[in-house]
Amino acid sequence: MKTTHYFFIAIVIFLLFPLVSVFAQKNGETIFKETCAACHSIGKGKLIGPDLANIQDRLSEEWIIKFIKSSQTVIKSGDKYADSLFKAYNQIPMPDQPNLTDEQIKGIITYIGGESSTSNTSTVSPAALTGDSKRGRDLFVGSTRFANQGAACNSCHNVDMNGSISGAALAIDLTHTITRLSAAGVGAVVSGLPFPQMKETYNSKPVTPQEIADIVAFLTLADMQEAALATTPYGNYLLLGGLAGAIFLLAFYSLFWFNRKKGAVNFFIFKRQMKSV
Ligand code: HEC
Ligand code: HEC
Repeated sequence: MKTTHYFFIAIVIFLLFPLVSVFAQKNGETIFKETCAACHSIGKGKLIGPDLANIQDRLSEEWIIKFIKSSQTVIKSGDKYADSLFKAYNQIPMPDQPNLTDEQIKGIITYIGGESSTSNTSTVSPAALTGDSKRGRDLFVGSTRFANQGAACNSCHNVDMNGSISGAALAIDLTHTITRLSAAGVGAVVSGLPFPQMKETYNSKPVTPQEIADIVAFLTLADMQEAALATTPYGNYLLLGGLAGAIFLLAFYSLFWFNRKKGAVNFFIFKRQMKSV
């Protein structure tokens, strides 16, 4: 009895073994696509983080494993390269991955290595959709609903537009996110959802590519307007301009008013006609 049992188990393990190794291979790709691709491309340029093409030739496996598990630990340990990389990428911390095993990370590195050699030739740029900043603003503040009914961005984020505050402070202020991350980077955040809170909100209610383009257009405008505001004392001029305009209008209307009082229109017509007679 017992021996047949063991025999049976042995056969099952033997049959499953190739499957298990296929899974191990797949894992690198799957993990990359699920947890890294929102911020990194392989051979298609930088997104939020650097392009990872040929990373396996540039950095030791040991370093990559440590960095992926906790990049901040590596940076704080005094690693000069990690520190300058962190500064070069606007001090955006890469989220820790304490749950990935060394084997899984090696799988990711193998996947990156394979992709580096194949994808270097093709330069596919993200779909160049033109965004409508007005529509982007409406989506951002929730006056227009997302097609898939996701929550408005301003339920968590604020954007300063012409000094007026338009959102919650639950998450980072997005007024200058375009400067920080670039348009492609912001698009990658909304489509790839690397942050847990955003993933929870939009994973089952994805924001469409056109909506992303609209929001990116809005955030680009907000970024520029804020920059303009910061360098010119715009606010005062607006106020003065408004006052001057009001005074001008008052003067203008009162002129009309006096004219009307002086004489009826037909009085002038009457006078002219008297002359021509
Ligand atoms: C939220 C965005 C984000 C996610 C998600 C992310 N990274 Fe990063 N990664 C960065 C940034 C930003 C840097 C630049 C260093 C820094 O700012 O700390 C970086 C740097 C790196 C580096 C060093 C690159 C170099 O040129 O030296 C490697 C390797 C790396 N990431 C791998 C990964 C892997 C693998 C994953 C998935 C498990 C991942 N990253 C997930 C943002 C991210
Ligand atoms: C449920 C709350 C929530 C909603 C809704 C939300 N976000 Fe986020 N978002 C976050 C959190 C949390 C972060 C991580 C940074 C932080 O901790 O503030 C983040 C980060 C970002 C970043 C990275 C910013 C940077 O400069 O590092 C961008 C860009 C962004 N969100 C855009 C959006 C856009 C666009 C929308 C609407 C489609 C949106 N978010 C909706 C919570 C949210």
